[in-house]
Amino acid sequence: MQELELILDEALKQFAATAQAAELEQVKARYLGKEGSLTGLLKSLGRLPAEDRPAAGARINRVKQTIEIALQARRDAIQQQALQQKLAAEALDVTLPGRGLDVGGLHPVTRVLDRIETLFHSIGFDVATGPEIENDFYNFTALNIPQNHPARAMHDTFYIDEQHVLRTHTSPIQIRYMQAHTEKYRSFQTMPDIRIIAPGRVYRVDSDATHSPMFHQVEGLWIGEQVSFANLEHLISFFLTEFFENKAIKVRFRPSFFPFTEPSAEFDMRWKGGWLEIGGCGMVHPNVLKHVGIDSEKYIGFAFGVGVERLAMLRYGVNDLRLFFENDLQFLKQFN
Ligand code: DAH
Repeated sequence: MQELELILDEALKQFAATAQAAELEQVKARYLGKEGSLTGLLKSLGRLPAEDRPAAGARINRVKQTIEIALQARRDAIQQQALQQKLAAEALDVTLPGRGLDVGGLHPVTRVLDRIETLFHSIGFDVATGPEIENDFYNFTALNIPQNHPARAMHDTFYIDEQHVLRTHTSPIQIRYMQAHTEKYRSFQTMPDIRIIAPGRVYRVDSDATHSPMFHQVEGLWIGEQVSFANLEHLISFFLTEFFENKAIKVRFRPSFFPFTEPSAEFDMRWKGGWLEIGGCGMVHPNVLKHVGIDSEKYIGFAFGVGVERLAMLRYGVNDLRLFFENDLQFLKQFN
């Protein structure tokens, strides 16, 4: 039966040439399927003389078995190959450098605030805070800025309602702290000095390269029985030389006006051949002390306020204040 040899030969060749599982099943059908050539041979056995049938049937069945074994071997091989490919595709290259986790860092404004707090802590100042939504009394009236006073126009204010504003400066924290302090020591008939700084966010309707609608200030306040303008001047100079780590820094005071101080001044720092305004200050106005129940005959003191972004711009050489609030990591990462 030469035909049988040919069929076997052909089947094995075709199996070997097939690389896909589905294709292999189609090839199989050509031999073992209902219309397959081997099936055809088996069917034709009936046409052989009866005595030849057993031997022929046995031969066909042996070939059929051989084909089935080869088919299964090919199936296994194809499956193995597919598995190998999948594993290779999913392989983890442990020699690649890791992507790493970025370590977070502090915002430059936060770094400057931390620095200011540490500095004032070292000379006995406490840190006080207050609410960002303030009422009219704390933000204006108690600071000697009554209704309709032209000084209110100095602040372009975000109003929440008629009585509440987003605080336009950190000065209201002075009022809150002085009130609480006097209350605490009322029964003692005397009180220890108040020495605080009050850092925080403040808000004004203003936006350009040097103004942001939200920015930071640090307020300072020292109240006692013997506090002078000379102390104020020294403290400001101490602060700026320490902050900029430069003993040669020159500071200048210019007469100015703030409703909550008398006399008032603005202080500037020598910078690149010119003078740069850093903040405002003055001796706390007696009306302010009255508003918080402090005897202005017995106690006196000074206050000052500085813009934190201004200090950060100078310390880090940044020329556009808006960069601090754009959250651009390229910019922020430079400070860590
Ligand atoms: N509150 C003022 C402002 O925002 C800054 C200031 C000036 C604060 C003089 C003070 C001060 O404590 O004495 O413009």
